[in-house]
Amino acid sequence: MAAPLQFFFLFTLTLFSSSFSEQSHIELPSNNNNPNPNPLQKLSNLHFYYHDIRDNENPTIVQIVDTPKNVPNGFGSTLVMDDAMTEGPELSSKHVGRAQGLFGLASLQDLGMFMLTNFAFTEGAYAGSTLSMLGRNPISEQNRELPIVGGTGVFRFATGYAIANSVNSVSTPQHFVVEYNVTVWHG
Ligand SMILES: *[C@@H]1O[C@H](CO)[C@@H](O)[C@H](O)[C@H]1NC(C)=O
Repeated sequence: MAAPLQFFFLFTLTLFSSSFSEQSHIELPSNNNNPNPNPLQKLSNLHFYYHDIRDNENPTIVQIVDTPKNVPNGFGSTLVMDDAMTEGPELSSKHVGRAQGLFGLASLQDLGMFMLTNFAFTEGAYAGSTLSMLGRNPISEQNRELPIVGGTGVFRFATGYAIANSVNSVSTPQHFVVEYNVTVWHG
């Protein structure tokens, strides 16, 4: 007697839930005109360069973990950076902040880095504010996209993305220049 009752219960439950979903009108979001649901946030675009300097006198990147010889693509190499950020590609152009963080080679298959970078701005309306970037950096490609995951000061609640490009025309093995174009929603 118990089994048919249980069956009947399940059957009515199925009937009820299917008629419920037919009658309900759950609307999926379809408005693509407003990419950010918070109308109080601003969209900002930042364009700058940073400089990896590896010379022995005043390096701005230092390797803190070496890689064993028997692994491919420098896997495991880990470095710390405190790079000057400039308005133009030349180190002599206006300094706008420091790019500080940790990065390393974290891909066995290719030259793929993890990046954990804080952009600390020192100029203009952004002085004293920071943006945090955390993502994968396939360094042998151009137009590398990395996520901006947060910020402080004017960049509170920041979310966005950075596009990174190596500036090969002015880089040397001791002085590597990278262009960043950052697009963020914030505050
Ligand atoms: C930076 O990115 C924005 C948004 O994608 C784009 O409109 C702009 O042209 C880019 N600027 C440079 C210098 O690449």
